Amino acid sequence: MAVVGIVPAAGRGERLGSDGPKAFVACGGRPLVEWSLDVLEEVCDRVVMAVPEGWDTDPDHVAGGAVRSASVRAALAAAPEAEIAVVHDAARPLITRELAERCVDAVRSGWQGAIAAGPMTDTVKEADASGRVLRTLDRSVLWRIQTPQAFDAETLRRALDVPDEVLAAATDDASLVEAVGGSVCIVEAPPDNIKVTTPLDLEFAEALLRARS
Ligand code: CTP
Ligand code: MG
Repeated sequence: MAVVGIVPAAGRGERLGSDGPKAFVACGGRPLVEWSLDVLEEVCDRVVMAVPEGWDTDPDHVAGGAVRSASVRAALAAAPEAEIAVVHDAARPLITRELAERCVDAVRSGWQGAIAAGPMTDTVKEADASGRVLRTLDRSVLWRIQTPQAFDAETLRRALDVPDEVLAAATDDASLVEAVGGSVCIVEAPPDNIKVTTPLDLEFAEALLRARS
């Protein structure tokens, strides 16, 4: 089956406060996205990146959309051969080959989606707008969802075929697959599969990458 990596890398990185797009800021001596590309290129037959407009220079670098899932849709549209799509944010440089392969294997075994996630370690409560606690949730059934997220590509195409405002409201692609009735399973990720959002995250990621090498 043709496995294609889909890397949304078209975000501006506003919370990081960098000069250019976050995917291309220096992290451990190279552009942030390259750590992810190294892994995806080992696991996938091809990798397509969604990049900021103007950076779309060849068939594997397409212009992203206004929101993250629109960027995923644009990159997937450039890979009609994909049978399994492995969506992975440029902002998670600690992805491992093993984690990506476990997601792909779960899709091969019949799941329509298989998504990296970490167990909830904090106690989680629901509160109303005034801050009054309404209830304490059962954290044993709650997961913090990450990427990589592997999908049956046909199901993901169908899930992404929705109006832009629906894409804008989706914080991950799996939620769109769930909305079309797709079966999605959790793949527990190593605890260091962090996302670079703020300058502190970038320092943390660099330290973790250094410790690995
Ligand atoms: N992304 C994208 N297209 C967008 C928005 C985000 O491809 N229109 C990508 C980012 O490049 C990143 C991933 O989606 O790899 C996760 O998004 P996020 O961490 O929010 O990155 P940014 O949108 O760049 O950061 P910020 O929200 O702070 O501006
Ligand atoms: Mg963003």
